[in-house]
Amino acid sequence: MVDPFRERVAVITGGGSGIGAGLARAFAARGARLVLADIDEEALAATSDELAAAGARVLTVPTDVRDRAAVRALADRAFAECGAVHLLCNNAGVATFGPIVRASDADWDFTLGVNLLGVVHGVQAFVPRMIEQGEGGHVVNTASMAGLVGMAMLGIYCTSKFGVVGLSEALHLELAPHGIGVSVLCPGLVETRIGENTRKLHPELRGAEPDPGDAPAIRPTVVLTPDDVAARVVEAIERGWLYVITHPEQWDMLRRRAARIERACREQLGTETAPSTPAPG
Ligand SMILES: NC(=O)c1ccc[n+]([C@@H]2O[C@H](COP(=O)([O-])OP(=O)(O)OC[C@H]3O[C@@H](n4cnc5c(N)ncnc54)[C@H](O)[C@@H]3O)[C@@H](O)[C@H]2O)c1
Repeated sequence: MVDPFRERVAVITGGGSGIGAGLARAFAARGARLVLADIDEEALAATSDELAAAGARVLTVPTDVRDRAAVRALADRAFAECGAVHLLCNNAGVATFGPIVRASDADWDFTLGVNLLGVVHGVQAFVPRMIEQGEGGHVVNTASMAGLVGMAMLGIYCTSKFGVVGLSEALHLELAPHGIGVSVLCPGLVETRIGENTRKLHPELRGAEPDPGDAPAIRPTVVLTPDDVAARVVEAIERGWLYVITHPEQWDMLRRRAARIERACREQLGTETAPSTPAPG
């Protein structure tokens, strides 16, 4: 079996910091060549220097993932300079908080532009070429726990991340015949500077400065590091996992959501139509 990392080319958006930089360290440690893209050129340079000092081969491409043409140009550079792309991590993201009714047009456009369209642009620019090159590979889309369970005060963020989960589930089915795996990363709280980075990018965002009462309804019991999360992603790529679940407290939240949907089916469809066997797949 082909080693998914050794001498393979990995493109990581949002690779300048946080989880993206963690993925870069983990993939480089396994022998991958890196293409890092980020809107923050300083962060990109600092991460790239750190990786190169440790012996990694890194190409950096400043990119705004909201811009479809810029992401196509990123793909052009990656394929031209590295000859192929095997791992695509659509990871760049921002975090916005606050009640949906108070969100401005800019809040919606900014958050959906980065978190959802950024992933769409990555898929559009890279996946057809990955299929064409015929060497298999893997796509990792970063969603969030907020892409699997709706949460108050995280409405826009949830909307963007649910979109990423839906896209990833569909892509997983469509790319299987091409030998390209798909994983969707759904972490709880990770120790990064996402709040600070988001405010720096768009200080005018209404949701960027939440009222004290607007704190998201997450009660994390565990805060992981980007390296913890990256280790789980490496395992997901090796084992072909679709959902990458990282935090123990997530299990209970997911069970409660599944139970609410199950209850709705029972109440609305009647028990006589209930499936007698466990759900497939
Ligand atoms: N930190 C958490 O608790 C957490 C939890 C769940 C999911 N996530 C997701 O993980 C991903 C990475 O976030 P992180 O926590 O590492 O935050 P981070 O701020 O450390 O990293 C995100 C990176 O994306 C970059 N970025 C932002 N907008 C961009 C754009 N338009 N084009 C290109 N790059 C852009 C930023 O400059 C930054 O370097 C995001 O998609 C985020 O939603 C984070």
